[in-house]
Amino acid sequence: MIGKICGTGSYVPDYYLDNNDLARFVDTSDEWIRERTGVIKRHIIQEDTTVSMAVKASRYALQNSGTAPKELDMIIVSTFTSEVLLPCTACEVQREIGAINATCFDLNAACTGFVFAYNTAMAFVASGMYSNILVVGSESLSNMVNWKDRGTCILFGDGAGAVVMKAMEAEMFKPISHSDGERGSALTCMSRHRKVMPGKTDSITSLAEKSFEADTYMQMDGQAVFKFAVKQVPEVILEVLHENNLQAEDIDYFVLHQANKRIIEAVAKRLKEDISKFPVNLDEYGNTSSASIPILLDELNRKGVLRKGHKIVIAGFGAGLSWGASCLEW
Ligand code: ACO
Repeated sequence: MIGKICGTGSYVPDYYLDNNDLARFVDTSDEWIRERTGVIKRHIIQEDTTVSMAVKASRYALQNSGTAPKELDMIIVSTFTSEVLLPCTACEVQREIGAINATCFDLNAACTGFVFAYNTAMAFVASGMYSNILVVGSESLSNMVNWKDRGTCILFGDGAGAVVMKAMEAEMFKPISHSDGERGSALTCMSRHRKVMPGKTDSITSLAEKSFEADTYMQMDGQAVFKFAVKQVPEVILEVLHENNLQAEDIDYFVLHQANKRIIEAVAKRLKEDISKFPVNLDEYGNTSSASIPILLDELNRKGVLRKGHKIVIAGFGAGLSWGASCLEW
């Protein structure tokens, strides 16, 4: 038994900042950002939240798959940017869409989150425990970036994507995933809910400063993450292909986490595959972390690019450090 994606949905807020908008408040330029990253715009929430975007993407995915909310028996939301800690974001989605029969939980694996959530859902289906699973990636990265840090604020955007996975008789592709906590310091963001211990000389102001320090924004060693990605992503793709007796040429599309156009180009080159097999939409949305793969899948699905029988590899990488790849048939 495997879980097959039978519907997709996505949502991004209308409001966006382009590179020239950013150049008004940090020392950067449209030319630098385009050349180094490929990003042109990033959509930013105003009224929306991580939950509301997840709900909208989920409704579209249910509609696209012809699934009634009550048919869902599990909802997994991948996020590290939700405004809600309790209840979990997945329970908020459940309530909003009326998926009363679903077991719900969140999963945080940063930008690899959707791939890990997909694998988790697949394992539940393969075990026979659940049959109709909604897998969502929803992120409000605009809340987590330091808008004074030109090294990070240019990269990230907000959005949500979702897929509905249904149980079907078929042979499962084995996924590959890795985590390396030893290299975690390359990309960090401390919780804003840490315990703040008042010292004897603290004032109200110094306590407030202590509880909202710079390390509660995303901090990244960009070059370290770049080097990690261009090495590990092709390696994990080759690993997953080998594990499933597939060659790169058997794959119709490589749907990679949308972090940087140069990373995607480097992966294509290393795999010796044509760049046209690596769809890109990061120019429009920037890096939306665990939402990037399901947003791109939804775009490809709705444009009719993905056809029945197409073989696709999804691959994610990010904080942890963590990375992984899975094969799927459309
Ligand atoms: N505009 C102009 N100049 C800049 C900017 C900017 N926005 N940012 C940095 N610079 C400067 C630097 O200060 C440096 O100047 P110097 O040479 O005078 O010191 C110069 O540009 C080069 O800086 P680098 O850091 O070497 O630039 P690089 O080519 O590595 O690009 C970038 C930086 C875009 C961040 C790149 O390293 C990258 O994409 N890294 C990977 C990020 C990623 O993939 N993250 C995914 C995971 S995200 C997650 O898990 C949540």
